[in-house]
Amino acid sequence: MENIKYPATLRRLRTTPHMRELTSTVILSHKNFIQPLFVEEGVSVPRDIRGLPGIQVQTKESIIHVIENSLLKGIQKFLLFPIPATKSERHFDFRFAASVIKTLKDHFREDIWMAADVCLCSYTSHGHCGVLRADGRAVLNDASVMELTKYAALLADAGTDCIAPSDMMDGRISSIRTTLDALKFDHVSIMSYAAKSSSQWYGPFRDACHSSPTADGLKNRKTYQHSPFNPDDAIASALRDDREGADMLMVKPAGLYTDIIAKLKHNSLKPIAAYHVSGEYAAIEMLAQQNLLDREAAHIETWAALTRSGADIIISYASTHAKQWIDKYQW
Ligand code: PBG
Ligand code: ZN
Repeated sequence: MENIKYPATLRRLRTTPHMRELTSTVILSHKNFIQPLFVEEGVSVPRDIRGLPGIQVQTKESIIHVIENSLLKGIQKFLLFPIPATKSERHFDFRFAASVIKTLKDHFREDIWMAADVCLCSYTSHGHCGVLRADGRAVLNDASVMELTKYAALLADAGTDCIAPSDMMDGRISSIRTTLDALKFDHVSIMSYAAKSSSQWYGPFRDACHSSPTADGLKNRKTYQHSPFNPDDAIASALRDDREGADMLMVKPAGLYTDIIAKLKHNSLKPIAAYHVSGEYAAIEMLAQQNLLDREAAHIETWAALTRSGADIIISYASTHAKQWIDKYQW
């Protein structure tokens, strides 16, 4: 080193990869990662998703190979989004989702941990996450909770390890918990989408799931998802879900909401999951395609930020690569 002129020299800690690795206090492990999966009913070939390179909507058959590939890469935990062939206003047919869960859990057994998204937006003809009032201008709370609870019970019966309700209705966690317990599915956990903002960053996901809200009188989800301008509501909702029996609390999107992650971490003892959503993933991928950043390093930097803010669990579209990327990362 040059002559040290300053009494407090801090750059010594940054001199070599060994030193930087040694002094890293943010430790990432692929064991905390969950890979989202999409599966569609009635299709014979997988299809690409606009904005999500590397991710496809799978068929009931092809999804097996995707999971096998993830297992080879050390990733065993998944979050499933089933896309039904038919949409309706009410009386939804949840059998496809249940049959996929059953097939996968029968096939892979304890080699995988499977969480199932529970929502109605890919089931409803109007794309809202719940049942619409007759005039089409509002989402009904309790009627939606009834459908969601029925759905959760079917998925639990099919063998899912975890239910992940993403609808944002009031009371759904206690309704689902009570019903699961009554049906002797008390071993099935609940990961609540506890702080979920009404966000621009779900675009590629909605495109993939055909789940954009299109009702004439209601074209956004602002009456049930959180406002980015009211963080207290997000915290209050998450703590409410905690009290109602959620086992894990999820924050989404992730990167723009690290304040919410940090605050929740300080106010709840439940594990916090951060969902780096489709648009956030797509932003990194698009910059990488333009050679404006290093894809792997950018994902890892993001995961470090989420971990620093207090996330215990990370849901990322790049989770499948987490082990390889973390192992070879140059500190
Ligand atoms: C549906 C749901 C959404 C996501 C997960 N579950 C979209 C929405 O609320 O419109 C977003 C996931 C992503 O963008 O990666 N309730
Ligand atoms: Zn939804």
